[in-house]
Amino acid sequence: MYVLGLDVGSASSKVVILDGDKNIVSSSVFQVGTGSSGPSRALDEALGKINLTLDDMKKIVATGYGRYAFEKADKQISEISCHAKGIFHLVPTARTIIDIGGQDAKAIRLDNNGMVSQFFMNDKCAAGTGRFLEVMSRVLEIDITQMAEYDSRATEVVNVSSTCTVFAESEVISHLSNNVPKENIIAGIHASVASKACGLAYRTGLEDDIVMGGGVAQNAGVVRAISRELRRPVIVAPNPQITGALGAALFAYDEANKH
Ligand SMILES: Nc1ncnc2c1ncn2[C@@H]1O[C@H](COP(=O)(O)OP(=O)(O)OP(=O)(O)O)[C@@H](O)[C@H]1O
Ligand SMILES: [Mg+2]
Repeated sequence: MYVLGLDVGSASSKVVILDGDKNIVSSSVFQVGTGSSGPSRALDEALGKINLTLDDMKKIVATGYGRYAFEKADKQISEISCHAKGIFHLVPTARTIIDIGGQDAKAIRLDNNGMVSQFFMNDKCAAGTGRFLEVMSRVLEIDITQMAEYDSRATEVVNVSSTCTVFAESEVISHLSNNVPKENIIAGIHASVASKACGLAYRTGLEDDIVMGGGVAQNAGVVRAISRELRRPVIVAPNPQITGALGAALFAYDEANKH
């Protein structure tokens, strides 16, 4: 028996396939989100790895911003519920979740059973999201995957204070023209993303353990900046970009085993 979770985000499409023992037998991340070929490419990759087709999946649950665009899903479930389920499965001590994706950031509070008791979300503005980091990486001409390494060499955290991505971009350009080292600018960019995520996280009451999911959790510079601001350790979920798809697959598993 196989079940599938599909997370169609704004920045990327993710798939997780579980077997009858809830083991992950295949997964994929395709760095194209909703509104294009991202979901089908991610599905083809994950199914192709284990030589199966969609017809072999007993249940399919879709989540994420683009979840209604995938017609073959048996059910659509919100990203909040799916991230909570995926992360609690991987880290049962998680009580606060910080998920930073391509276009929004969320803080979720879990009870001892892994149920969502509260959540806060910023989906009004690019600042504090992966998109903000993508814009800055372009201006700095540094690949998004290299940002954490630059951050680790920073000698100072420069101030990137604008609350608007467009103005923050001008601030970064002005730092560059004043020959401020890119390392220090990147540390400032990460601190800016962290402060917005922490603003959401504080509102949940900030119970330990604090666990990060979403694509931005792969940026160790942002994770360090969040931990520094909260003055608490922050755990990064294993393979954090697929935690939403994992949650969706776990919901699909529950559907498949309903009596
Ligand atoms: N290898 C990497 N290293 C560092 N950062 C990364 C890496 N891969 C992705 N990211 C960051 O993750 C972001 C995308 O995150 P994710 O895939 O969780 O978004 P999404 O689920 O599509 O978006 P949303 O949930 O907001 O709709 C990118 O904008 C980028 O900043
Ligand atoms: Mg997402």
